[in-house]
Amino acid sequence: MKRYHVTTFGCQMNEHDSERMKGMLEGLGYAEAPEQRDADLILFNTCSIRESADSRFLAHLGSAKKVKSQRPDVVIGVGGCWAQSLKEEVFARFPFVDVAFGPGQIHRLAEFLSSDSLTAQGYFEFEGFAGHLPMKRSREHQAWLQISVGCNCNCSYCIVPSTRGREASRAFEELVAEAGRLAAAGVREVTLLGQNVNAYGRDLRPRSSSFAELLHALDAVDGLERIRYTSPHPKDMREDVIRAHAELPSVCEHIHLPLQSGSSAILKAMRRTYDRSRYLDRVALIREHVPDCALTTDIIVGFPGETEADFAQTLEVCEEVGYDGAFTFVFSPRRGTAAAELTEGLVPHEVKVERMQRLVEVVQRRAHERAQRFVGRTLEVLVEGPSRTDPTRLRGRSRHGKAVNFAGLAEPGELVMVDIRAATSQTLSGEESLVARAVGG
Ligand code: 5AD
Ligand code: SF4
Repeated sequence: MKRYHVTTFGCQMNEHDSERMKGMLEGLGYAEAPEQRDADLILFNTCSIRESADSRFLAHLGSAKKVKSQRPDVVIGVGGCWAQSLKEEVFARFPFVDVAFGPGQIHRLAEFLSSDSLTAQGYFEFEGFAGHLPMKRSREHQAWLQISVGCNCNCSYCIVPSTRGREASRAFEELVAEAGRLAAAGVREVTLLGQNVNAYGRDLRPRSSSFAELLHALDAVDGLERIRYTSPHPKDMREDVIRAHAELPSVCEHIHLPLQSGSSAILKAMRRTYDRSRYLDRVALIREHVPDCALTTDIIVGFPGETEADFAQTLEVCEEVGYDGAFTFVFSPRRGTAAAELTEGLVPHEVKVERMQRLVEVVQRRAHERAQRFVGRTLEVLVEGPSRTDPTRLRGRSRHGKAVNFAGLAEPGELVMVDIRAATSQTLSGEESLVARAVGG
């Protein structure tokens, strides 16, 4: 039996796509090899969001090259966003690569592997969803549900529209049916995925749908206890979506709302299509309908033209919102994007580093403060397994998306109530409640 090994870089969409690749390969009779060195097919599912993602992958590719020189019949495949952004150039620069394919061409991998041709092949059309391929889930009780692919935004820093193509939504009924199958198979939590997840449904024909309608339909699926989604765009964060968090029992009290910058001038240069006050209006609306909602965000530091005053506004928004967590990135120029062409107001490396330190300080302090609201409360936790730091304890997540380490006897996949005793900016800790029982847990 032939064996494969997949290494995944990048976002949740790539994790989802890798689960589809694995499902498809197992359908072809391949088995998963625990280590790359034991595999006949070495696959990489790549990311190109920042330069650091590229370099991390290139280091891995170097080790695969070594394997290939020792065992020339090993097949090396490179999929995902890095492959898409370079296309045929992949083969010129890395001649030991046998097959390269973009995110829209995962299904063609099967075609390549079943053909007799040994010549290198590249597949880069934006064709289809990986969503209809078989899936090998890495977590038994949680699943990804890809609801759309591609992105019609035009953010000046972002490579994704060129790697994942135009926005296309999967059919409404198909998604509800898939959610039903997942729930019947024991999945309790789904994370809806899309590059711009809350733009879902506008392109559907003959009848368009809305993201809020989809949330309602999925909430009605029996056995599905929790619904999450990522990533929404603030411009499409409509009131009906926010209300869904308040009204639908399975939609979790957590919204990841990428800010990118707190300065309206920088947001304009980023082509984000909202300004600081519109963003803050969204936050106010969320807090009005769902006062306890956790808010997390993405922020880019050192975008070309970012002055100290612009940056101070980002700090101000972070102070004001009080995020429960934030991913912070230093601006990285990406091939083919408008921001990579900017030559004025480039922020020197030391300034970027210094701003990043100040930003992280504010984000962590506010997240730590915000997390204290959970201490003394009893929260519902979906158990994932033993704690990473102390195997005698359990680990799981609250509906707010907080990691919780706790003492208890529950099994993975159970929903239990946990008395929260302490909180840091990143994690909560406590013990399984002896009194309260989670509904359905
Ligand atoms: N440089 C730095 N960060 C970036 N992101 C996207 N493109 C870039 C870039 N060129 C960040 C954004 C986005 C997150 C997934 O990655 O904050 O929300
Ligand atoms: Fe990376 Fe973006 Fe592609 Fe995800 S969509 S793999 S983050 S480049």
